[in-house]
Order: sequence, then structure tokens, then C-alpha cells
Amino acid sequence: MHIRPETPGDIIGHVMFSPMAAPVRALGLAPVSVAPDHQKQGIGAQLIRRGLSQAQMDGWQASFVLGNPDYYTRFGYSVDIAKGFTNVFAGPYFMALELTPGALKTPFAVSYAAAFDQL
Ligand SMILES: CC(C)(COP(=O)(O)OP(=O)(O)OC[C@H]1O[C@@H](n2cnc3c(N)ncnc32)[C@H](O)[C@@H]1OP(=O)(O)O)[C@@H](O)C(=O)NCCC(=O)NCCS
Repeated sequence: MHIRPETPGDIIGHVMFSPMAAPVRALGLAPVSVAPDHQKQGIGAQLIRRGLSQAQMDGWQASFVLGNPDYYTRFGYSVDIAKGFTNVFAGPYFMALELTPGALKTPFAVSYAAAFDQL
């Protein structure tokens, strides 16, 4: 999902959600980016909220993200909920969000798409 300004061709924001290997239908949020000149105007929040809303409508049950809790908790992601889940990034910056109530009740192993192994 992208957000474009008035000038055709200029992309000022981008967010990606990719399917994760997990026993529930889970999406990894990464990356999200907004052009420096357009940051702090709510564009990142808009991209994330619209992405999560679409994911929920499409039947995705959960989402995970690695990032700064100061930012992602405002969208409902939680470090506490992610505790106990097995992931290479598990720790204080690994967060989870239920899109379907109860989807994350029992911790499991979850991994990002293979492309993220290159990071
Ligand atoms: C993170 C990013 C996408 C936010 O986009 P944005 O459109 O500026 O975000 P919003 O306008 O929705 O929100 C701005 C808020 O996010 C906060 N914020 C931005 N980056 C942050 C970070 N890395 N950690 C914590 N908070 C951050 C700002 O301080 C601001 O806080 P406030 O609402 O309390 O004033 C943007 O700063 C960016 O592209 N950063 C570089 C790439 C990056 O770090 N991506 C995330 C990791 S994949």
C-alpha cells in the first residue's frame, strides 16, 4: 500500500505486510516508511491503520512487528502479548496484535517470510 502526493509518480509512504509461517493466519508488518519531508503528519499511522483494517477484513487473525514500542503500541501492538512466542526477533522490541479475538491465546513459533532471512 502506498500514499502518493499530488505529483504523479512520487511515492511518499509505503507499508508492507507479509504472510508469516504460523499456525494462525498471521502477517508481519515490515517495513513502513515515510519520506523525511512528509513525516510526523500522520501518514505512517494512516498506512498502518488502513493496512490492519484491510487485513482484518481479509480474515487475517494476527500481526507481528519488530520496532519501537513507543510507536507501534498506539496501533494495538503489544510486547506483553508477544511474550512466549518463538521468533528470531523475540525480545523487548517484538510485538503482537490480535486481529481475531483469541488468535494469540496460546503462544507458538512464528517466522517471517524467507526474504527477511537476508537481513
Ligand atoms: C516510522 C515512520 C514510518 C513514521 O512515519 P510518520 O508518518 O512520520 O508517523 P506518524 O506521523 O504517524 O507518527 C509520528 C510519530 O511517530 C514517532 N516516531 C517516528 N519514528 C519513530 C521511531 N523510530 N520510534 C518511535 N517513535 C517514532 C514520532 O516521534 C511521532 O510521535 P508523536 O505522534 O508522539 O509526535 C517514519 O518516521 C519513517 O519512515 N522512519 C524511517 C524508517 C523507519 O524507521 N521505519 C520503521 C522501521 S521498519
